[in-house]
Amino acid sequence: MSTLNVYNVNETKSIIISKSEGKSKSKSEIKRKAISIDKLSVHYGETSALADVCFDVEDKEYLGIIGPNGGGKTTLLKSILGLVPMSSGTIDIYGKRPGKTGALIGYVPQISVFDKKFPITVQEVVLTGRLKSELSLFHKYSNEDRKRVNEILNSIGIYKLRNRQISALSGGEFQKMLIARALAVRPKLLLLDEPTASVDVGAREQIFSLLDELNENMTIILVTHDLMAVSSHIKTLACLNGRLVYHGRAELDENIVKELYGCPVDLIAHGVPHRVLREH
Ligand SMILES: Nc1ncnc2c1ncn2[C@@H]1O[C@H](COP(=O)(O)OP(=O)(O)OP(=O)(O)O)[C@@H](O)[C@H]1O
Ligand SMILES: [Mg+2]
Repeated sequence: MSTLNVYNVNETKSIIISKSEGKSKSKSEIKRKAISIDKLSVHYGETSALADVCFDVEDKEYLGIIGPNGGGKTTLLKSILGLVPMSSGTIDIYGKRPGKTGALIGYVPQISVFDKKFPITVQEVVLTGRLKSELSLFHKYSNEDRKRVNEILNSIGIYKLRNRQISALSGGEFQKMLIARALAVRPKLLLLDEPTASVDVGAREQIFSLLDELNENMTIILVTHDLMAVSSHIKTLACLNGRLVYHGRAELDENIVKELYGCPVDLIAHGVPHRVLREH
């Protein structure tokens, strides 16, 4: 029997946030931390993927993570999800530990983990976001699950594709389907690993506007190689190259870029507005 390789980090429970919460609190109390990472190191056998990474993410922040191939970006997301063992350090996600976050996190993995040839429709993939544990071919979804999925497909603009086989989707449609799947449980934190890789300019802009809208209600961490996205959408930036080279405002300078990619700004900054890359 063939199997679909998907992560199930979400549970069906929705999050209830008390409406009165925060009313009598000071601004700094309301601006709670979404994530706190302290001295995180991850090794795969002999390979050090992340060393001594420390940073915090505020609630409703929109953080972009950039860095070279193999820089540890996916490893960082997987550490937050509890999908890789940490060699040392701690991660706190809204007061919870990785792997114990239930429906708090929605995850859009790097596209390569999906088998596009698997015979399954868009609606069925998005429904898997409602599963509590491993995907079973005999699982029965509730009417509430189906209602939520239709709402999401509608809001993301792919409702008309709901009965389409995933093998017949374009790159942009496929990415929107993965975002819909991550949103199926109304997460508080959305992690996306290169959601605009191999999509055209139009689909990329649609995905970024969608993320801007979602950021009004949720914290977003976006791993990307797309420096245009860094320029016009994200609020803060983290640069990873096995360790944290930079964390702060979405503004880079020549030295950081050189340290990060080992090459001059001009090579990677072609067409990128100077709002991101300071005068050089
Ligand atoms: N399962 C694994 N087993 C062994 N090594 C791994 C594994 N996953 C990642 N690595 C190694 O850890 C390092 C960081 O990999 P990671 O996938 O986190 O990088 P990345 O920044 O996401 O790269 P990319 O931009 O190519 O997606 C790399 O050296 C990689 O080869
Ligand atoms: Mg990666």
